[in-house]
Amino acid sequence: MAEGSIAMKRVFITGTAGFIGFHLARLLLSQGYAVAGFDGMTDYYDVALKQRRHAMLLQSEAFTRTEAMLEDEGAVNRAVDAFAPDVIVHLAAQAGVRYSLENPRAYIEANIVGTFNVMEAARRHEVDHLLMASTSSVYGANTEMPFDEAQKADTPLTIYAATKKANEAMGHSYAHIHGLPTTMFRFFTVYGPWGRPDMALFKFTKGILEGTPIDIYNNGEMWRDFTYIDDLVLGIRGLIDAVPGGPETAVEGDSLSPAAPFRVVNIGNSDKVRLLDFVEAIEAETGKKAIRNYMPMQTGDVPATWADATLLQRLTGYHPQTPMRDGVAQFVRWYRDYHEI
Ligand SMILES: NC(=O)c1ccc[n+]([C@@H]2O[C@H](COP(=O)([O-])OP(=O)(O)OC[C@H]3O[C@@H](n4cnc5c(N)ncnc54)[C@H](O)[C@@H]3O)[C@@H](O)[C@H]2O)c1
Repeated sequence: MAEGSIAMKRVFITGTAGFIGFHLARLLLSQGYAVAGFDGMTDYYDVALKQRRHAMLLQSEAFTRTEAMLEDEGAVNRAVDAFAPDVIVHLAAQAGVRYSLENPRAYIEANIVGTFNVMEAARRHEVDHLLMASTSSVYGANTEMPFDEAQKADTPLTIYAATKKANEAMGHSYAHIHGLPTTMFRFFTVYGPWGRPDMALFKFTKGILEGTPIDIYNNGEMWRDFTYIDDLVLGIRGLIDAVPGGPETAVEGDSLSPAAPFRVVNIGNSDKVRLLDFVEAIEAETGKKAIRNYMPMQTGDVPATWADATLLQRLTGYHPQTPMRDGVAQFVRWYRDYHEI
């Protein structure tokens, strides 16, 4: 465990109606923290799912929420001022690699302007730690695997990846100028119950259960480092306490900046799974065969991702390890329950 741990009490989380924010809020509430959520309830996917997630969180008296857009600087400031957080975890974003080809502007607005507003609120409040979501997509065209934080990440292939890389650079500058301790997570394909309808597991399970074809890109020659949601949020929880500071807070192989209290950390399972094995796991769990529609590689997509999660382990003593089949089983169980199938 790195030095610099803080007695954290009040956590402001953006994106609490979203997949990861919901699970993180639930974990922190279960551990006795006060959580304020902030989410614009965008219609990128089914808003009813987002409302259900917020409704579940609101069952806890320690949870409050603001439904507003990140681009609304006044709304961000009012929410942060009212709550006076010790820590901010910024997860709200326009996510999704493929949609960024269709609507790049949404990414500039939410991820660049919106993230800037959150950073401004964080430095005004002098929070103890700002943590923000980046993505494995910043490794872009890199081919050396597994991806580790020391590699250059200068070849983003989509505007989505470019905005997240820009967030890392923006975060570094504020960490330097304002001495604001900042951690950026690079998440690797997160999956599990309450997951996102635009992601493969959700789409595959839906298609397999409904008996409709599922699109499999690059003719199935795809590998992903699938990270189970419960593992991911435990990784985030550990990193909240691993506050970056001066050189004394560094661990072996750290990405800690020499110029700022800033680091990037992969959160991944460190296991590369073939997409077709993933499909087979869903088939096994549902007891149904997929109708496979093999497609070419999509523009902006990468054939493989694979995380080196050594740094996460050194900083927190933890690294994700739910086997893919167990995670898929949990998801399919939730999917059937949620849709009453
Ligand atoms: N799920 C993954 O596999 C994955 C992988 C890499 C990175 N990430 C990053 O993790 C974070 C969380 O992702 P997620 O999977 O929970 O996505 P999600 O879409 O389920 O959650 C994001 C939430 O942010 C909200 N939001 C979007 N734009 C907003 C805006 N302009 N103002 C206010 N709220 C807004 C949405 O309503 C949504 O509830 C994102 O930053 C995403 O880029 C996710």
